[in-house]
Amino acid sequence: MAVLELMQGDITRLKVDAIVNAANSKLLGGGGVDGAIHQAAGPELLAECRRIAESRKDHPAGACPTGKAVITGPGRLPCKKVIHTVGPVWYGGAQGEPGLLADCYRNSLLLAQERGLESIAFPNISTGVYGYPKAAAAEIAVKTVNASLAETPGIKQVIFVCYDQENYEIYKHFADFG
Ligand code: APR
Repeated sequence: MAVLELMQGDITRLKVDAIVNAANSKLLGGGGVDGAIHQAAGPELLAECRRIAESRKDHPAGACPTGKAVITGPGRLPCKKVIHTVGPVWYGGAQGEPGLLADCYRNSLLLAQERGLESIAFPNISTGVYGYPKAAAAEIAVKTVNASLAETPGIKQVIFVCYDQENYEIYKHFADFG
């Protein structure tokens, strides 16, 4: 059974099998954790993302639709892989945001499982630029990861990485962290 851990810090420094990026559907970088990951990874990561985007340029929902996940190498990052997922923009909660946010966590875990990865670190997807309320997002994150572990037996360690103090305090309320 996987161990769920909580930490406050910079996800780009983690030497885990996969770190998850809160990307946008174009996969061509941005600010927030997306910007931090690309900055630390170097141009190789953007080049690989560009290749994925080019190969999917005819897709109406963009290179990576909201809720889906794609995987790339790490560039210069210490992790083995980067899983890019696209969280929902918060429009008040009646546009399917909760389900799409849950999909980000579940699809990232399924992709990690499929690639034989055992440790994965998540940022607080959608809670920055995309404006998702932090407490609601935290609850979806923890509940979805717990619910997905039965179908991802290969996952041994899940780390929730909070960059800001507010998210860290919110996550600390969920007792089941190893
Ligand atoms: N390590 C871990 N978490 C980080 C880091 C970091 N180095 N930098 C920022 N964060 C946190 C933010 O504090 C926030 O809690 O990541 C969380 C997600 O915020 P954003 O990065 O703004 O992501 P999101 O809200 O999903 O918006 C995605 O922003 O950067 C663009 O290209 C991205 O268009 C996409 C959108």
